[in-house]
Amino acid sequence: MCGIVGYVGTQSTVDVLVAGLKRQEYRGYDSAGIAIIANDGTISSAKKAGKLQALVDELAAHPVREGATGIGHTRWATHGAPSDVNAHPHLADDGKLALIHNGIIENFSELRAEMLAAGHDFVSETDTEVAAVLVGHLYRETGDLRAAFARAVIRMHGAFTLLAMHSDEPGLIVAARHNSPLIVGFGDGENFLGSDVAAFVAHTHRAAAVGQDQIVAITSDAVTVTDFAGHSVMLDEFEVAWDASASDKGGWSSFMAKEITENPDAVANTIRGRIDAGLVTIPELAELGDDFLKGISRIIVVACGTASYAGMVGAYAIEQWARIPVDVQLSHEFRYRDPVVDASTLVISISQSGETMDTLMAVKYAQEHGARAISICNSQGATIPRESDAVIYTHAGPEVAVASTKAFVAQITGLYLFALHAARVRETLTHEDLTHNAAELEAVPAKIEQVLTTGSTVAQLAKWMSDTPAVLFLGRNVGYPIALEGALKLKELAYIHSEGFAAGELKHGPIALIDHGQPVFVIVPSPRKSAVIHAKVISNIQEIRARGARVIAIAEQGDAAVLPFADEVIQIPLADPLFEPFLAVIPLQIFAMELAHAKGLDVDQPRNLAKSVTVE
Ligand code: G6P
Repeated sequence: MCGIVGYVGTQSTVDVLVAGLKRQEYRGYDSAGIAIIANDGTISSAKKAGKLQALVDELAAHPVREGATGIGHTRWATHGAPSDVNAHPHLADDGKLALIHNGIIENFSELRAEMLAAGHDFVSETDTEVAAVLVGHLYRETGDLRAAFARAVIRMHGAFTLLAMHSDEPGLIVAARHNSPLIVGFGDGENFLGSDVAAFVAHTHRAAAVGQDQIVAITSDAVTVTDFAGHSVMLDEFEVAWDASASDKGGWSSFMAKEITENPDAVANTIRGRIDAGLVTIPELAELGDDFLKGISRIIVVACGTASYAGMVGAYAIEQWARIPVDVQLSHEFRYRDPVVDASTLVISISQSGETMDTLMAVKYAQEHGARAISICNSQGATIPRESDAVIYTHAGPEVAVASTKAFVAQITGLYLFALHAARVRETLTHEDLTHNAAELEAVPAKIEQVLTTGSTVAQLAKWMSDTPAVLFLGRNVGYPIALEGALKLKELAYIHSEGFAAGELKHGPIALIDHGQPVFVIVPSPRKSAVIHAKVISNIQEIRARGARVIAIAEQGDAAVLPFADEVIQIPLADPLFEPFLAVIPLQIFAMELAHAKGLDVDQPRNLAKSVTVE
């Protein structure tokens, strides 16, 4: 939550900052602001409530003065409502210091009282202004931004990435990181800071993640890092694997529309290089050791939101193929339930951003209690993979739309690769089954391409249903998490009440919701390969139809049994049962997006949400 950018260099600082915010707007979009140490030696700033465009309009009407040093922020409000005055940057030390923040400073009221007692005033309701005033206060004592910053950060608790600059020290930005992300971008005669590489990838591909409890100072030609105790630290540089153009809309009406079409590539790129002679081998898992994989007693998947549904799908494959019991737990529930983990437990975290605070804390908890932890993550250099014992990166490319689509199918791919790797090591599948499943996985991208051709039919359906007040989703087995994901997509994008249910639960309550005309999506398993549960789902369809439901079935091509009972059928290509989720979820993604479009909503930036939830 909140995107930050910092720049020292010779380009137009305003342009670099605004472009950096534009690429990070998915992190928060209720207000935005920039501050620059202008060439006249004073700080020039602008900030505005609303989406980034409001700031852009403000800058056009009242330009800030240019200079070589600047910071920018796009906000997801925690302390204080979205307003001009609560937007960042916050100024202190008589307007000579500007500061931005991502996170929550938990002891802000105590620090605020201390600063009030010291004679300082506050204009906003934010915890961030407390940090600005504290750094400004300490600057007056030290006359040195690095020293003031070092003294300030050890006074704060909670989660924070802070960037500050002072007009008495132009050409310098000092930043600190505690439980929130911070990445440095190394340029030629210019350097950058960002919440993620998207902030600066248009200018440089050389990046490094700042570690926990470290302070970084950038000038145009140097980057120096220390820990909070003042010891020098070396950063591990990495090359950003994607281009700035990958996070552009590229002619699509929305990022989400673009990202849905990238589903096939997300799967293909995640598989690439991990199947050799028909067998899955993930070199990154060497870190765990085959003996550990053979002796695992239990896997706990921790994740939030869409990633948790990917985890539920993956659990079926891991249990079936690698014969390891799997629990899937929401990260925030796992942490506080006093979970039973030991040295034979493997925790698999799933996170697109790699920064979800609850998931990070779940990983740390598991490790502190003796478990090993691997992550499935889409963002290079993010905190969760850095804290894990091993990482399986998904290669979905940057996902900008707040609601996850291509990252979801890439996460399932990562889990299936893990399952096949573990099944090979644990010898729980025959060679023939290992190669068959790997081949099925490799066939997924082409099958998703076929499903994408149903897009216009699904869009038409969405238009017809744009005034529907509620939609239900039913599925069994691997179709159940897809029902949950379909419902989540619809509520987050179209603000329609929607629920996903296990079809077997229908008679235990949900059927009471069925009334005349109630739309129900049903994910129908294959009649060829899942005959038993297929028959049960057909019975469920008949039960809801008898009570007036309008049934939209997502069913395998050639499934004649479903036709008499469904009002609409969306066909998906033939696949083994465990591979149906890759296909069944695509129409549901399109449906939610198109229904939101039909209602005139912003599909990329739904209200109240942010893509990366870096506070608890
Ligand atoms: C937010 C996003 C979701 C995402 C979830 C977990 O709620 O809006 O799309 O699934 O966070 O995020 P992560 O980055 O950990 O996958």
